[in-house]
Amino acid sequence: MYILGLSGYAHEASCALLKDGRLLSLLEEERFNREKHTWKYPQKAIAQCLAQAGITINDVACITFFWVPNREIVGNITHFLKYFPQSLNLLKAPSGGEELGFFKRVSLMRHVGEAIQQQFGLAKTPKVHFIEHHLCHAASAFFVSPFEEAAILTIDGRGESTCTMLAQGHGKKIEKILEIQVPHSLGHLYAAITDYLGFKPFFDEWKVMGMSAYGKNVYGEIFADMIHFLPNGEYRLNLKYFQFHTHGRGRWVSDFFLKRLGPQRSKDAPYDQRHFDIALGLQKIIEKAGVHLAEHLYQRTKLPNLCMTGGGVLNCLMNKRIIEETPFKNIFIQPIANDAGTSLGSALYHYHHNLNKERTFQFQSVYWGTEYPNQAIEKVLQEKKVPYKRCESIARTTAEYIAQNKIVGWFQGRMEAGPRALGNRSIVVNPMDPTMKDRLNARVKRREYFRPFAPSVLEERAHEYFKLPKGQLSPYMILVGDVHENQKSVIPAVTHADGTARVHTVNKQINPKYWELINEFGKITGVPVLLNTSFNENEPIVCTPEDAVNCFLRTEFDALAIGDFWVTKS
Ligand SMILES: [Fe+2]
Repeated sequence: MYILGLSGYAHEASCALLKDGRLLSLLEEERFNREKHTWKYPQKAIAQCLAQAGITINDVACITFFWVPNREIVGNITHFLKYFPQSLNLLKAPSGGEELGFFKRVSLMRHVGEAIQQQFGLAKTPKVHFIEHHLCHAASAFFVSPFEEAAILTIDGRGESTCTMLAQGHGKKIEKILEIQVPHSLGHLYAAITDYLGFKPFFDEWKVMGMSAYGKNVYGEIFADMIHFLPNGEYRLNLKYFQFHTHGRGRWVSDFFLKRLGPQRSKDAPYDQRHFDIALGLQKIIEKAGVHLAEHLYQRTKLPNLCMTGGGVLNCLMNKRIIEETPFKNIFIQPIANDAGTSLGSALYHYHHNLNKERTFQFQSVYWGTEYPNQAIEKVLQEKKVPYKRCESIARTTAEYIAQNKIVGWFQGRMEAGPRALGNRSIVVNPMDPTMKDRLNARVKRREYFRPFAPSVLEERAHEYFKLPKGQLSPYMILVGDVHENQKSVIPAVTHADGTARVHTVNKQINPKYWELINEFGKITGVPVLLNTSFNENEPIVCTPEDAVNCFLRTEFDALAIGDFWVTKS
């Protein structure tokens, strides 16, 4: 039985294909249409999902969608009336999307069946099962976790109207415990400060998290006034500080906020210490909120297992605090925690919760994307007329080159789903070179100097370099660990200003080729750690061999290891 799960007309449009409850493919539309976080209907991702499985749309038994548009309409009317007459401003503001206004977006969502009909020239509009957004998030984590029973925490910008949900899963069912509704969104709080600091909301939150390591605790009191924590596990934003709930996404913060924290930073203005201190104030209060919610969830469920997901849990510093400070023993964080994972969640929720089907699948990796054999890669290299040679051991050749402080693009196997490159579409360099971060930024990545780069380390040797919370592994680079004091000078390029690193522990069985690369590097240098950053240059992560070669040619990489081929520029 095939189920096709979709998310679209909202950021990170994606498509997932299940066969008898097992995931076959999970593809983000951005990788194909090359628009980062794309809002489009996931047309190319759907076509690719079906092609990879060798089936047609007629073989699909059910189509599921990650949103209930009618529920959003009811939620928005309630919100509008609650904040009337200030909410009249919302009618003038762009809402819920950069390109699509609310009415247009909801209409497209309601008619997603017609988009499918049109794409495949079907005689009839196919039935679509609309699944509540936070249940999709919850299902995307719980049903692929190793747990028969677990508490579930979801945090994001917003779903139809819910922005935080506490739930629990038992076998094939998910049951809600508590929902917090907009405007009391932790995701929107983070977006508001991202905008205030001169970045793009829902896009650049990483930058704010990176900045926080350079901040001092100056604004703790003000941020403590921005969220009020309630004894029953709930919290409320202090709306005096904000305006997005009455004026939309063009005006995130209020005059009161500006009076207390000073003027907004404009996009191209220099950074000063105040900006870093504000980033720290925000980060600390978000961490406190995460711990508050998880602690309450534990008290309500008394379960030892916790599943976490939603865009909010891409905040790996918060995740560390939750693991360290709450009584949960076992934690699974869905690596595709943003909305790209909700296409999968919608399909899983329908299969298990609605259809009562047994669970037979667990997440072991994120390699659910497209794959290209050597033959297809070689054809592209010939077409692009780049010099190349076939290697006996691409891992050894690459490791030797990295050890000479060169920058190498590493393109192997199936593409990752989700926001992290985990060793199949990665740029890999030497973490021991203290100048590497600046060189990588100058030559390829062009990121702000305060953003950290992350390490990949052999799983079995991770403890030599990093202290991970409660001894957890971090196979999805979604947790930070503390770099051991005596190792900070050994791997300076991946040690952040606060002494942490967003660790990727690499398992030999899950990704043998990438494990071998790190192991070879370890044999040469004595340090089985690489700096791993996504293979892209201010664009979605590369998908095809063409994307990889194009990125290689237009930036200043030293070499490209693609399949078994070694490519240089001269
Ligand atoms: Fe979401």
